[in-house]
Formats: sequence, C-alpha cells, structure tokens
Amino acid sequence: MSLPEPSRRDTRLDHYVDTYAERTHGLQVSAVRALFAVANRPEVVSLAGGMPNIADLPRMELGASMDRLIQERGVQAMQYGAGQGELFMREHIIEVMAEEQVHAHPDDVVVTCGSQQALDLVTRIFIDPGDVILAEGPSYVGALGTFHSYQAKVVHVGMDAEGIEPDALAHAVVSLRAAGQRVKFLYTIPNFQNPTGVTQSVERRRALVAVAKEHDLLIIEDNPYGLLTLEGSPMPALRSMDSDNVIYLGSFSKTFAPGFRIGWALAPHAVREKLVLAQESATLAPPVFSQFAISAYLEEFDWRGQIVAFRDMYRERRDAMLAGLAEHMPAGSTWTVPNGGFFVWVTLPEGLDSQAMLPRAVSARVAYTPGTAFFADGLGSRNMRLSFCFPTPERILEGTRRLGEVISAELEMNRTFGIDPGAARHHDLQTGPAPDIS
Ligand SMILES: Cc1ncc(COP(=O)(O)O)c(C=O)c1O
Repeated sequence: MSLPEPSRRDTRLDHYVDTYAERTHGLQVSAVRALFAVANRPEVVSLAGGMPNIADLPRMELGASMDRLIQERGVQAMQYGAGQGELFMREHIIEVMAEEQVHAHPDDVVVTCGSQQALDLVTRIFIDPGDVILAEGPSYVGALGTFHSYQAKVVHVGMDAEGIEPDALAHAVVSLRAAGQRVKFLYTIPNFQNPTGVTQSVERRRALVAVAKEHDLLIIEDNPYGLLTLEGSPMPALRSMDSDNVIYLGSFSKTFAPGFRIGWALAPHAVREKLVLAQESATLAPPVFSQFAISAYLEEFDWRGQIVAFRDMYRERRDAMLAGLAEHMPAGSTWTVPNGGFFVWVTLPEGLDSQAMLPRAVSARVAYTPGTAFFADGLGSRNMRLSFCFPTPERILEGTRRLGEVISAELEMNRTFGIDPGAARHHDLQTGPAPDIS
C-alpha cells in the first residue's frame, strides 16, 4: 500500500504552533521529566514520587466486591451519571469529612476526578488571566501547573513551622489590592503540606480564617492527607471554622487508592452550582463506576481500620527517613519533621543547588524533587522534597545514605574549586510538573 503524498511541505516540527491558544504556550515539558524516566529504574531509590503505597490493600476481597458490583448493579454502575456525582457517594463523603469536624450537606458536595480536577474546576470558575492566587511558598506542584494553565499570577506568602503567617497574608492582600491587582483566593494545604510536610496549628488556622474573613478572601483548602496523621488525631479543617469563605477539596487517593480518580469539592451553595456546570462541561459526569466501587468499599470494608494500617506503615517509613537523614546528611543541612502525609523538605548547606545536583544524584542511584519545582518565582534552589511514601524503610535508609554521599561530594567539589557558597543559582522554572512527581 502506498501512502498519500503530504499535501504541502512544512518544515516546522509542530504545524499548529501558531494555532494554539495563548494559555497553551505556558505549558512546557518539565526539565526534570527526562531524569525521572531514569529515576524510575529499579536500581535507583526514588525519593521523588508522591505515589501512595497501596500494595497492602485487601485486593482479593476488593476483587470479589467489584465482581458483585458488576453482576448485581453493573447496568447502573456502567451508565452515565449525575454531573454533581451520585447522591450515595456524596453522603459517604459527608461521613468521611466528619472525621475532621466538617459537618455539611450532601447537596453542597461536587464529586470530581480526583482533587486535581476539583482544583481545575475551582480555578476555571474564578480565574481570569492575570488574576492573583496567593499560596504557601513552596506549594503543590500540580496546583501551580493548574494555576499557570489558567494564566493566574501566583504570589507566595511566607510560612513558618506552623504554616502560612497570618500577618504576611493580610499584608499581601492589602498591598496587592492597593496596587490594583485582583486577588481571587488563597490556596492552602493545611495538613502535612506538599512539599514541606508542615501542618498548621489550630491557633494558626483560626487566625487565617479570621484574616480571610476580614479581607473578604476566599480560601481553597486542599486536604488530601488530613487523615494520614502519624501522631495524634486529625486536625479540625479550616472549613469546620468557616463554611462561608472556605472551599474544601478532598480525595480518596491517599486514604484508599488513586486509580479510581475520585475526589470532591465542598463549596458554599452558589459556588457549588457553578462547579456543577463546570464539571458538566468538562466531563458530563465524574466516573460512575468508581463512585459505586468506592461506596462499596466504604460500606463493606473497615475503611477506618485501613487508614490506621496506612498510618502505621507510613510512620515506619517516615521514621526511617528521619533516622537516615540524621545519620547521613552533612552539617549545614536541615529538614522538616512531618507529623503525617508523605514528605520531608530538606534545606541544603549554602552554595548547593538541588537542580544542578540532580543528574549526579541519579547517577549515584538516588532521586529527589528539586525545590524549584514548588515555587512559581524561581526560589527553592537550595531545597529538595523527599517522599517517604513509596520505598520500603530499607530502601529509604539506603536512599538517604546515597544522598548524603552526593551532597558531601558536592560540598567537596565546591571547596576544591573555590565556589562561593553565597552564589547559589536561582532558576526561573516556568515548566509544568511531570505527573509522576506530584
Ligand atoms: C496537595 C495535593 N493536592 C491534590 C493532589 C491531587 O490528588 P488527586 O487528584 O489524586 O485527588 C495531590 C496529589 O499528590 C496533592 O498532593
């Protein structure tokens, strides 16, 4: 068979380069994506990814449950569904949120394809190009990518060991508005923040809610990790302190399994209407089969017991990482001690650049995510995010050992070549994240 002749000669690699919408031009392949392809090789200890460890879920029993689902309710479960999500799913979601003292009505919940889609829908309904979104600095790479794709301007607000500083938040809102900027919302991850592992104290939460109320600022509370506490009970959600100014985003990805792609938004009534319209235009309806499957899981299995098992497993991994860091990190390095979630945030000794060091780390068979990925303004070159969720404790210990050697060698090289420790390079990383590092 002969192929038809191309209708005209076009030497451009992408024929549609002039056709894309303006917002598409900002989407670039992550500078670190190619490295992560290597980092996923088995000989590399990857402390880079954020994948939950779901190997211990009761897969045989889950299989039997899915089997019954298809046989007994398959005609409904495999059909189109409601744009807002199925009522039974929304009722279960209310039950899950009660664990964090959120009391709400199923009418105000919109089911989404993971909380990532909830982020997308919220951004879509609120953001015009150039609008300002306030966020912790650093913040979740997947949210920064979404905000960027809607041409928002992200302004980071300072944080400390208790989360965003309320005074800094108030100052940012007032000064940006005085300069004529449209500040639309604060995006915050109050529990075991991705990437720092920091958790907002209860007092801090109250203060943030008060600042938001005073300045008429909407809060987007992104909370996929809240139930994965490694110490003590779950914290009260921001939404439990203010139901008018907070949109709460939740997910089953970390407390059950991400492959079902079910998350949700709980929003004040009027916002919820807009979210449903946006959801309908995006997907018609969130995946019905996943909603049936997750609801069956919540009804038939001890999901609270499973979360306790997840906590025990992640605690062991977190402890391995903290022990490994204490043993192997050279002097001058510091790191956060998370009480839950998946991540530790490391600050390297002065003069080191985590992005420049990454190829050498991967050659030494250890990978991490460079800090610059988590800032919209190029900061973070002395930082890295390490995740303890996926590798076994033994692999985590080995990973921190390799990392310690790489950092020490880097320091040695700087000393040998007389590199000024104050002259760390800053990057303008406008690139989107590789999906496997989120
Ligand atoms: C802070 C944060 N928000 C949202 C998400 C997206 O989760 P999902 O879409 O799987 O619910 C993640 C995933 O890593 C995350 O860390």
